Amino acid sequence: MSDQDGSVSFYDQVGGHPFFERLVGVFYEGIAEDPVLRPMYPEEDLGPARERMLLFLEQYWGGPTTYSERRGHPRLRMRHAPFAVNPDARDRWLAHMRRAVDAAEMPPLLEATLWDYLERAAYAMVNTFEPSGIGPVADGRTAPSMTMTARTDVPTKE
Ligand code: HEM
Repeated sequence: MSDQDGSVSFYDQVGGHPFFERLVGVFYEGIAEDPVLRPMYPEEDLGPARERMLLFLEQYWGGPTTYSERRGHPRLRMRHAPFAVNPDARDRWLAHMRRAVDAAEMPPLLEATLWDYLERAAYAMVNTFEPSGIGPVADGRTAPSMTMTARTDVPTKE
């Protein structure tokens, strides 16, 4: 499959479907073991979520457009709105992706391209700075660091 300008797509450069299958497979092995991220996935079986991620990444990088045929426009930030994606969740997500990318042993330029995208996308997906309350908090905090309610313990000037 070629890009619109006739050049070989990233999808084909990395090896097409088998590459993305392996990448997403290693990533979801990590998700399955993660005490913070695993409970965020609504379904008992991670298989369908794995499939959605696979189809999305394949489409994004110039492969088949099955994702949009099945799911419509990706609207990823909107689709993540029901989940508390805080910096801890983002860093855990990225750590599982990092292991998957390392396992893929890609040519450095292609790896840099993929990683740059994944890192930016993960940062863009953060939708809260409140601790999740599920599993251990990374730095041992027990209360939100940025409370959104007014403090009542400080006298106000009239
Ligand atoms: C930053 C941390 C992230 C967390 C904690 C997270 C978590 C989740 C969760 C809990 C779901 C619902 C599972 C399901 O499909 O049923 C989901 C869906 C999805 N996520 Fe993420 N995600 C993160 C970042 C990303 C990023 C960076 C991408 C893309 C590069 C992505 C792509 C997707 C896709 C394609 C779906 C399925 C959307 C759909 O069609 O419904 N996620 N994510």
